[in-house]
Amino acid sequence: MTSLTASHAADLVAALLFILSLAGLSQHRTSRAGVVYGIAGMALVLVATVVVAAQSITAGAVALIVLAMALGAAMGLWRARRVEMTQMPELIAVLHSFVGLAAVLVGWNSYLEVESHGSAQTEIGADLLGIHHAEVFIGIFIGAVTFTGSIVAFLKLSARIKSRPLTLPGKNALNIGALVAFVALTAWFTVSPNLPLMIAVTALALALGWHLVASIGGGDMPVVVSMLNSYSGWAAAAAGFLLDNNLLIVTGALVGSSGAYLSYIMCKAMNRSFLSVIAGGFGIEAPSGGEEEHGEHREVRAAEAAEMLAQARSVIITPGYGMAVAQAQHPVAELTRRLRERGVEVRFGVHPVAGRLPGHMNVLLAEAKVPYDIVLEMDEINDDFADTSVVLVIGANDTVNPAATDDPSSPIAGMPVLRVWEAEQVVVFKRSMASGYAGVQNPLFFRENSSMLFGDAKHSVEEILQALGTDGRPEAAPSTRQATVPSH
Ligand code: TAP
Repeated sequence: MTSLTASHAADLVAALLFILSLAGLSQHRTSRAGVVYGIAGMALVLVATVVVAAQSITAGAVALIVLAMALGAAMGLWRARRVEMTQMPELIAVLHSFVGLAAVLVGWNSYLEVESHGSAQTEIGADLLGIHHAEVFIGIFIGAVTFTGSIVAFLKLSARIKSRPLTLPGKNALNIGALVAFVALTAWFTVSPNLPLMIAVTALALALGWHLVASIGGGDMPVVVSMLNSYSGWAAAAAGFLLDNNLLIVTGALVGSSGAYLSYIMCKAMNRSFLSVIAGGFGIEAPSGGEEEHGEHREVRAAEAAEMLAQARSVIITPGYGMAVAQAQHPVAELTRRLRERGVEVRFGVHPVAGRLPGHMNVLLAEAKVPYDIVLEMDEINDDFADTSVVLVIGANDTVNPAATDDPSSPIAGMPVLRVWEAEQVVVFKRSMASGYAGVQNPLFFRENSSMLFGDAKHSVEEILQALGTDGRPEAAPSTRQATVPSH
């Protein structure tokens, strides 16, 4: 068997491993196997690529490839070990920007190699040259949009810039104008390729990527992250065409289509138009909602919350980003265990965009060994709140905001939320009256049946556990207080 056919076989096996990986990642139980399949596929093709390359390039060039791979692996391991779970979306956004940048560099390299030296010195026939020109342009365009879009997403997710959407006058016309200009430039370039056109399309796509993501904000950011994931896949597929690499085309298409499908699912979950979000918030008006307070709120202490729980028949816990920040999942799991031992029905209600990445809450709860069968999705549990004694809102905010259903002028109007306020009592665990990710005040905090338990969520749950005691009976609790805590 020649090394070329061996490399084709390696590509085929790797493509199958990537498909198995995606299938595995779609369920908790098989997700670990999914990750292993992905690692195995990637390791296989890296080795195959170096082995094949070693036969046609100098030993020095092979050494450079190995050095680059070792450096990349060391940096990847270092970042992966240090990154906090709450920083994962930012890390993913940075990684997408690398894919976009790589596609731009591959496009430029291919242009310099083919267009500057003439097709005679390459393997591209004169009849296919026009297609190659279009591939270069499309690859650079998708790559550059992904690159700057991912950088803006990183800046927004890491709170280095405000997450509010940018609303330039005529923003929709700007986006459509950029797309029309791209089509015109591509047609021109296929007829007469030249350097100024290359510079023009790169600059245009960099600006468009920046503007598309800057125009989307608040609660729509999760869709942007999965959309950029999809774009990065198409950028990789475009690079695969330029490099004549079938595996890159297949892998890029897998990432591109699964990212697009995830974006579609998230748009449905958030009642947003898929097309308007991918078109940079096309048709979405600038949010008008504010941070204004809605009256007085009630405050409780941990001992009082323990008292409520001790008397509860059924409890639903709705976790959010704050549970991840506080790393409160282990005491929450312990609280669940103790209440269930006392015969209280305890379930979890997980909103599709709770936290900062898809499945964020499910991962934390699985890590703390909360049984899968009591962790329910929003649609499965939303009708049960009305028949629930106590809801514990642990570090969630936007995902339990009644303004989404009650206030048509709210920036999150129409987004389905967990209807926690329908329960007999609601206890909200957070540190202050500050708004959530979307920057919208939450009227839930001022409802008659809501009480705020201020403090770090982990600390508060541990205090409740202490108050409940090992036999589950609470110590005597002081009375409820009225309070106004300044928002920060
Ligand atoms: P958020 O609306 O982000 O609110 C989290 C709350 O947790 C904050 O109000 C904060 O209040 C509280 N908190 C923070 N640290 C805490 C701590 N140590 N202890 C106790 N509370 C703490 O949360 P959510 O309901 O999960 O909603 C998620 C939001 O993020 C949505 O708007 C969603 O669109 C967006 N988003 C989601 C994703 C994905 S894919 N899931 C990706 C990007 C953005 P204090 O500061 O007062 O404590």
